Amino acid sequence: MDVVGPLERGLTVLRAMSAPGGHRMRPSELARATGLARSTVDRVLATLVHLGHLRETDREVELAPPLMEPGNAYLTGCGVPDALGPVAERLADEFDESVSIAVPDGDGVRFVTQITRRRTMSLAFRIGDLLPAERCAPGALFAAEWDETARAAWLERRDSPERFPAVPARPAASAEEFDRRVARAAADGWSADDQLIEPGLVAVAVPVRGPDGRTACAVSVASHTSRHTAASLAEATLPRLRAETSAMEEALARSLAERAGTSRTAATEGAGGTAANAVGADPARTAKRELGPEFLQSLARGLTVMCALDGPRPLTAVAEATGLARATARRALLTLEHLGYVERTGHDFRLLPRVLELGYAHLSSLGFAEIVQPHMADLVRRTRESASMAVLDGDDIRYVARVPTYSIMSVDITLGTRFPAYATSMGRVLLADLPHSERAALLAGTALRPITERTVTDPAELAEIVDGVAERGHAFVDEELEAGLRSLAVPVRDGTGRVVAALNVATHAARGPVEETLAALLPPLTETAARIEADLRVVTRRKRLRLP
Ligand code: PHB
Repeated sequence: MDVVGPLERGLTVLRAMSAPGGHRMRPSELARATGLARSTVDRVLATLVHLGHLRETDREVELAPPLMEPGNAYLTGCGVPDALGPVAERLADEFDESVSIAVPDGDGVRFVTQITRRRTMSLAFRIGDLLPAERCAPGALFAAEWDETARAAWLERRDSPERFPAVPARPAASAEEFDRRVARAAADGWSADDQLIEPGLVAVAVPVRGPDGRTACAVSVASHTSRHTAASLAEATLPRLRAETSAMEEALARSLAERAGTSRTAATEGAGGTAANAVGADPARTAKRELGPEFLQSLARGLTVMCALDGPRPLTAVAEATGLARATARRALLTLEHLGYVERTGHDFRLLPRVLELGYAHLSSLGFAEIVQPHMADLVRRTRESASMAVLDGDDIRYVARVPTYSIMSVDITLGTRFPAYATSMGRVLLADLPHSERAALLAGTALRPITERTVTDPAELAEIVDGVAERGHAFVDEELEAGLRSLAVPVRDGTGRVVAALNVATHAARGPVEETLAALLPPLTETAARIEADLRVVTRRKRLRLP
């Protein structure tokens, strides 16, 4: 088999960085962890940093949200989260317990949806986490469909806890005991986990079949022994789970039929703005020209191919969607198939759940502040001014992230600080996004006090300023909040275009003329907001992100 070496080595590096504690590493550590030559590691890293999948921080590299794109493509293509997510949400509300959906992944069980209602549990699994089949409720359901080869593979690997860092290690399970649970699951059509993962954690799972009649996924309800025994959890939830099963199977079949029917362009559109998923053009070629031998074109192309597989696609469709030559796309697909990330059925290639092992679990658990912080730090390095992010809270703005500059003259503000929205650049950006009537009502209910002698307090003048902000897309406030303080802000939008926060840089009036300050600060500020928005789009594709 003619494997594409750079692609294989790139994925090796990404796997090493997806191991527990590996999301931030030095190149030398990566060379040690992967057994690859340092020069190879450097080229892989230069490529992945260029693509935005990794980020450089001091002398380390770390996983970055755009790396979630292959996983997002898999989650879209497999149809499960889209079809069953809403039902899982409803069940979690009804039971007031955690509900999750997992798919079979070799002899493991991989989570694709998590609706958590964690209370006394110490463990919370993330989308992408892999569990050993013998240690969880869905595993027995999946194992009921294993053939001899699959069972033999499972027997052989039972003693490799390093493959399952998401669960606390335990002595290997007895094969007989697991066989008994598998037989019972097959006979009963459901399966229980009575503290197989950790003391206190109990779960019940039912299978959901795909159109091919095989178990496509399992829906689990997880609880704690302080509320339920495994038996009482089954009693409380099985009737409802069973009542929903045929509706879930129909929804899944519909979702898969839709995926298979979507046109190639529609399927790859809107996946975010990074080079890895541009449609119809090969961005690797431009990067190669820029970076020369440090850029591994075939690694970049392999990742592009993954992102294009958000459903089963024949080779021609993949080549067309990625702008790659057929032979190039074919080599990438065959390498990915060989490495266990892609499966071929007839003419169609599709992603396997294993792509989620590439950093997905770590990245999907990042909070808002962790996503925005590195971009704001970069903005501060570029502008040498402090950067902040705020949300609207009543008629105030509230700081949700902040990176101060090192200058002794910097303004000191902590998280949670509030200022009146009308007198701040971030506030005006946030007001500008409100529907006209809401904005007017909010301002009408706010006492516009002069905070400095420059504060605009005339309602009509302020309304006009905010209209201007809505038009221009940025707000500049010159000494209206504090003498000597200037601030420039732009909106940060989520995937739906709604403004979720405002980003600003604050500077001193002494820095120079207003025009020069604007010319120096607006471009980096706008670029930073765009990068943050791109990350937010990828992360919120499959998960709601709570603002601080
Ligand atoms: C969970 O969703 O947290 C879960 C699912 C199945 C188990 C245990 C936990 O067996």
